[in-house]
Amino acid sequence: MEKIRIRGGQRVNGVVPISGAKNSALPLLASSILSGSSLKLSNIPSLLDVNTMLSLLGSLGATYLVSQDSIYSNTVTLETDSICRYTAPYDTVRKMRASILALGPLLARFGQCKVSLPGGCAIGVRPVDLHLRGLEALGAKVELKDGYIDATARDGLKGADFTFPLVTVTGTENIMMAATIADGVTVLRNVAQEPEIVDLANCLNRRGARISGHGTDVIVIHGVTSLKEAEYNILPDRVEAGTYAIAAGITGGRVDLIGGNLADFLSSFIEKMKQIGLCFSEIENGLRVESSGEIAPINISTEPYPGFPTDLQAQTMALLCLADGESLISENIWENRFMHAAELMRMGACISISGAHAHVKGVKQLRGAPVMATDLRASFSLVLAALAADDYSTVDRVYHLDRGYCCVEKKLADCGVVIERISE
Ligand code: UD1
Repeated sequence: MEKIRIRGGQRVNGVVPISGAKNSALPLLASSILSGSSLKLSNIPSLLDVNTMLSLLGSLGATYLVSQDSIYSNTVTLETDSICRYTAPYDTVRKMRASILALGPLLARFGQCKVSLPGGCAIGVRPVDLHLRGLEALGAKVELKDGYIDATARDGLKGADFTFPLVTVTGTENIMMAATIADGVTVLRNVAQEPEIVDLANCLNRRGARISGHGTDVIVIHGVTSLKEAEYNILPDRVEAGTYAIAAGITGGRVDLIGGNLADFLSSFIEKMKQIGLCFSEIENGLRVESSGEIAPINISTEPYPGFPTDLQAQTMALLCLADGESLISENIWENRFMHAAELMRMGACISISGAHAHVKGVKQLRGAPVMATDLRASFSLVLAALAADDYSTVDRVYHLDRGYCCVEKKLADCGVVIERISE
């Protein structure tokens, strides 16, 4: 088990290269299943979740070549002509829920697939019922057997008009991918509008798909018979960028986030951070974030995109622990996404939780402590608190961090932070 040890009381000052978006990389890798033509994806971050998705593709019979562009990113070339198995096993899905993204593409191309039911996870129940209802609307027969989703569409999928009762990100991605090679026109309503969905649609269109409306709440897909070979460079990770912006804010520092057009994808986050006291300016190929020295209390409420992202809630809570007053955080996406609060309180934070709301009363100083990561974003909120604390902290269970943040120690050390990974 590995831990990260951080010396508190340091300013984060420097340049942070922002990696490719995890939440783009995973669906784009899964989309390679849709056709036997090769797909070359660049700006793929070096992350545990990416490795899990690649081994899932490998277990289906795909082959891939990973070439390193830098320590932060890779180009992955996928050959999926050789796919000959159609099962995503429990052992893989349990490690990474995004494995469910294999469901739509496998079913659409091969007319059959078996994907383990993901089950709950630390941040909530996380059902996949809407993925299944969407596929059924396209004509699939879906059965749940022995903990597996067993889906068939012997005569292929057919275009349909489907309204999602709730906005779901991977649900939208799964059905959009499946409809790409279905017979006829599909209209998907009340879809998620995340930039990563737009990225997926843009990549599919480059391969010959006919998708329109992505980035709005209605997506129209004219099915095509096959997809062609293509190369595609994925988006920068807006969640990683937001996380390092908070690192500057919580330590009174300044960071240049380099990786492209980040401001457009973070508008609701930036608006809130400005109210807290962070200053933003656009620079060449990125965004400069600087602390004003103040941390003002605010209320935030997580919403589907373009609202405030749930994936930046835990990190924002760490910042508000040091605000000059009381803040209210409402978590509207996941029912159990405040587990970091208990660990932050071990560092001296003053937080009370009632249902989906967290009242955070700012304190003058956080204290260094040994703490335990509980999920991916929660783990970085503890790193942020540790950066601002008065002494050394150790963050345990850093495998959560490695799932979604690339080269954390290097990126922070390059900004002047004393940080080390300890293996036991
Ligand atoms: C994706 C992101 C995750 C982010 C989340 C919300 C990826 C790989 N993961 O997760 O980082 O936290 O969006 O922005 O992109 N729901 C149902 N039935 C379903 C599907 C979802 O009830 O079939 C509910 C969920 O319980 C949740 C809400 O819908 O309350 C949103 O979930 P969803 O957008 O599907 O999250 P993910 O796609 O799993």
